[in-house]
Amino acid sequence: MAALPDLSVDIGGLKLKNPVITASGTFGYGTELTPFFDPSLLGAIIVKGLSLRAMPGNPPPRIAETPCGLLNSIGFANIGIEAFIEEKMPLLAKIKAPIITNIYGHTIEEYGEMAKRIEKVEGIGAVEINISCPNVEEGGIAFGTDPDTAAAVTQHVVNNTTKPVIVKLTPNVTDISTIAKAVESAGAQAVSVTNTFLGMAVDIATRRPKLANMVGGLSGPAIKPIALYLVHKVVAAVRIPVIGLGGIMDYRDALEFLLVGARAIQVGTANFINPKTAIEIVHGLTDFCSREKVSNINQIIGGLKTM
Ligand SMILES: Cc1cc2nc3c(=O)[nH]c(=O)nc-3n(C[C@H](O)[C@H](O)[C@H](O)COP(=O)(O)O)c2cc1C
Repeated sequence: MAALPDLSVDIGGLKLKNPVITASGTFGYGTELTPFFDPSLLGAIIVKGLSLRAMPGNPPPRIAETPCGLLNSIGFANIGIEAFIEEKMPLLAKIKAPIITNIYGHTIEEYGEMAKRIEKVEGIGAVEINISCPNVEEGGIAFGTDPDTAAAVTQHVVNNTTKPVIVKLTPNVTDISTIAKAVESAGAQAVSVTNTFLGMAVDIATRRPKLANMVGGLSGPAIKPIALYLVHKVVAAVRIPVIGLGGIMDYRDALEFLLVGARAIQVGTANFINPKTAIEIVHGLTDFCSREKVSNINQIIGGLKTM
């Protein structure tokens, strides 16, 4: 029998057995989906976004379906970093795939404080920073929309941890490459591209917005071509690994992101439709590589033919 293809990748020093990662906020705290498959078979698991203190999130309704997409305004509802470490990590540490914590702060100092608390926790392989959120010290403008602020947050986290730091970029900017370069210079070991696109939906019967928060983040297949373009753009702008995401529903979508140069991919909204999507993508990539006689997934990464 032919040997199975090698799907392992390296993300800023973090070794993954395959390039498939679950996206923050779509896979709970990492253990909710264990009845469906063994999460140890995934490349890594990114848990729900965590803040320094527990947060209730936005009032409902905070999810609205759109054609080929999902609008959400969850508003960072989470149990807080301490409860996560005490209540969730003991179980998560048993999973044989790196756990990546996704963190969100109201101030630059809060990001640093969380990185510090995570530093000594066993089983946490890397920190992903969500910079798509409002900076209370700058009147609520998202950290990730200004290169200097994005760099300052990154540097603060890098200074407070020895774990690889992945910065998750927002697409809601004029030029994502500028932000990517700024966080790379500040010491990020990788970037995730992309978070959700700002959007709205209106109920014509009530004439009210479908989300209580009025505005939400759009995800799912509707954003895939734009996310793919942004990944392509960022891959050309930085040397650090790029993790691609946005509307990935199956292994073919995953391959598109890998071909444009993403070193790994994340599966988000698809988990709500089929909780086994991520593991099916691992199997799909394995079969594809075997069929195409690709012995190592790195032969696919960045293999887009342009001539
Ligand atoms: C319900 C929901 C909750 C999310 N929560 C977070 C979060 O806490 N932190 C974060 O960085 N991204 C969060 N995201 C964004 C996803 O991780 C991902 O970047 C986005 O949905 C695009 O990927 P997709 O189209 O595969 O879903 C959330 C998305 C959804 C749909």
